[in-house]
Amino acid sequence: MQKLYEGKAKILYQSEDPEVLLTYFKDDATAFNAQKKGQIKGKGEVNCTITAAIYRWLEKQGISTHFIEQIAPNQMTVKSVKIIPLEVVVRNIASGSLCKQTGLEEGTLLSEPLVDFYLKDDALGDPLLTSERIRILNLASQEQVNKITEIAKKVNRCLQDFFLCCDITLVDFKLEFGLNNQGQILLADEISPDTCRLWDMRQKDSKNRVLDKDRFRKDLGDVEAAYYEVRKRVLSRVDSL
Ligand code: TMP
Ligand code: ASP
Repeated sequence: MQKLYEGKAKILYQSEDPEVLLTYFKDDATAFNAQKKGQIKGKGEVNCTITAAIYRWLEKQGISTHFIEQIAPNQMTVKSVKIIPLEVVVRNIASGSLCKQTGLEEGTLLSEPLVDFYLKDDALGDPLLTSERIRILNLASQEQVNKITEIAKKVNRCLQDFFLCCDITLVDFKLEFGLNNQGQILLADEISPDTCRLWDMRQKDSKNRVLDKDRFRKDLGDVEAAYYEVRKRVLSRVDSL
């Protein structure tokens, strides 16, 4: 199959149908714009399975995604879209770069969900954008930014409920969006422990509670076990629906 694009965590292949692409999830892990590299054994299968389960569920909540079908433990088919070069981060609790840039203490509950836009450009270090910059750089129209913000907030409400039932606090997460041929905005990429901060409500200790890629970023150990635990809880949640 023709490889269309290889990213840090996934490879995109063309299929016989021009409207359909195949996404292959890799075990490779990177952090800090690929300055830190490694592997998380089984991550491809875990992230593919979690993303598929969450996208199926989000579709039921009325959110349009690019997801079609999981065809193997680490492979899914998706609708072909043109990715908007924005990383859309929704934050409920202060962590990561928000703490570094604002001085807010890690774990501070935000008074309302914060939607941050970053330029999807590794070479530039994914800089934080303003709506003016988005407009001037022609990354998206104001109407598209408004729509994306609305969808991102709805996804946040859905995911907060979903993870609450898994005894997991959704701290923050990153979304990407794409446009189909009709110009419709579809949720794209993945939703997994690579792209979310997830804290275990059953653990009070600030290190033990981390169930996401921060275990890899901060060398906290037991990375695989955390990813498997999220998959287990997500699958038992979708089974119980
Ligand atoms: P940040 O605090 O480093 O800005 O990250 C916010 C959220 O976005 C966190 O859940 C991790 C996720 N994220 C990605 O998925 N990809 C990235 O490249 C970065 C920087 C963050
Ligand atoms: N995904 C990004 C990278 O590989 C950053 C991160 O997740 O921390 O560098």
